[in-house]
Amino acid sequence: MIGPDGPLDAELVIVGRDPGWQEVRDGRPFVGASGKLLDEALQSAGLQRKDVLVTNVCNVRPPGDDWTKHDPLDVAKGFKALNELLVKHPRKVVLTLGAQALLATTIGCPELKEDVNAIVLNSQLGGTITEVRGYAIREVYREALPYAVVPSVHPAFIIRNWLPWRACLACRHTGASHGHAGRWVVRGRGPGGVAGRPARHGWRLPGRRH
Ligand code: URA
Repeated sequence: MIGPDGPLDAELVIVGRDPGWQEVRDGRPFVGASGKLLDEALQSAGLQRKDVLVTNVCNVRPPGDDWTKHDPLDVAKGFKALNELLVKHPRKVVLTLGAQALLATTIGCPELKEDVNAIVLNSQLGGTITEVRGYAIREVYREALPYAVVPSVHPAFIIRNWLPWRACLACRHTGASHGHAGRWVVRGRGPGGVAGRPARHGWRLPGRRH
């Protein structure tokens, strides 16, 4: 079992998928190649790893590092523990890395379920997370979640595809005040972002009118 790492009351929570062999070896999430990339991205955003809470959807390593090979009970336990953790303290932002984290942090919300399922399904088919990354979902569903969920691609995806990570993960949080979550802007080139300028805002979830 590889549990959360960092201050339990952190305002920023980063959610990955499940641990790999290095995480099992060290007993901490995100210490391997994905973790190193994450640390670098946090640093470039002016954040320190020790100030954020890092955790996973599922706390055990699946056979063959294959998400589909998890014991469903482990996944169910992970979903429950994660959602309990998220509401335990006031949070500003939950940054989800990859499809499973996005689904797990929003599925408890019936209003979101259909749309998020569509995103996850699409991402399995064609990479929709790369289009929605950086957009605060709570900005759209203001009432539905007690924190902003900001989807991002998983660092492993960046490594696997030889992507320039600054285009994908580099994001910073601005304007948090008076109970407002502020917003994340994503810098760099790539879908949803233009070099040197904040990403386009106002992304619409499929099938909803705003
Ligand atoms: N990838 C994840 O999703 N989580 C970890 O802890 C390590 C790699």
